[in-house]
Amino acid sequence: MPIRLDERLTLIASLVDFGKVADVGCDHGKLGYYLISTDRASHIIATDISAPSLKKARELALENGVSELMDTRLGDGLDPIDSREVDTVVIAGLGGDVISGILERAHRNSKVFPHFILSPNTHPEKVRLELQKIGHKIVFDDIITCAGKVYTVLKTEQGEENLDDRQIRFGKFYKTSENFKKQLAIEIEQKNNILAKNYSEELKQKICELESLLEDIR
Ligand SMILES: C[S@@+](CC[C@H](N)C(=O)[O-])C[C@H]1O[C@@H](n2cnc3c(N)ncnc32)[C@H](O)[C@@H]1O
Repeated sequence: MPIRLDERLTLIASLVDFGKVADVGCDHGKLGYYLISTDRASHIIATDISAPSLKKARELALENGVSELMDTRLGDGLDPIDSREVDTVVIAGLGGDVISGILERAHRNSKVFPHFILSPNTHPEKVRLELQKIGHKIVFDDIITCAGKVYTVLKTEQGEENLDDRQIRFGKFYKTSENFKKQLAIEIEQKNNILAKNYSEELKQKICELESLLEDIR
């Protein structure tokens, strides 16, 4: 059965370069199934910390006859995965705190993964900082709007990284990202609307900071 992904998961899937893929926090398992059924991955290890979530992924694989190509494993973060088993690890839809904690623990346990594709719901800056610490450099870093929410999507490979403060906060390629410029202009407009109804010096300063950032990169 063909499956349609939303814009966020479609972008994530497009960043996978074939091979063995782990989907950590897989929930419904749609990404893993999509990657197998469209020949974008040769094998999937779909994991989740929640047994009911993992059950959904296992049933999706069973119903579609791909359970031999899609392992499902219960566990926290990268604990159920040996780094030699996969080429790419996807962790999407979790908070930046949780994702950076998962990366930090795997590194402490001497697990070295070739590629990560990460999409934190919150605190992308924490993820970028952690990636630098564990020796991963960012090769893709952009935002995507999906169902009215803004998501960060990152892809990495092993290597040294030295991001400045703005790159940590806004993304490695914020200066050239059209999506980032568009979103920044929207955020400034929204903040100006709030300011017009409810003046605050703090908000005014924040708007000035964002306007000067937008001016710098236009
Ligand atoms: C919002 S869903 C995201 C599902 C899918 N990855 C996506 O992006 O659409 C988050 C999933 O992550 C799982 N999760 C949360 N913390 C986790 C952890 N530390 N390790 C593994 N899975 C986790 C939850 O049980 C839930 O199924």
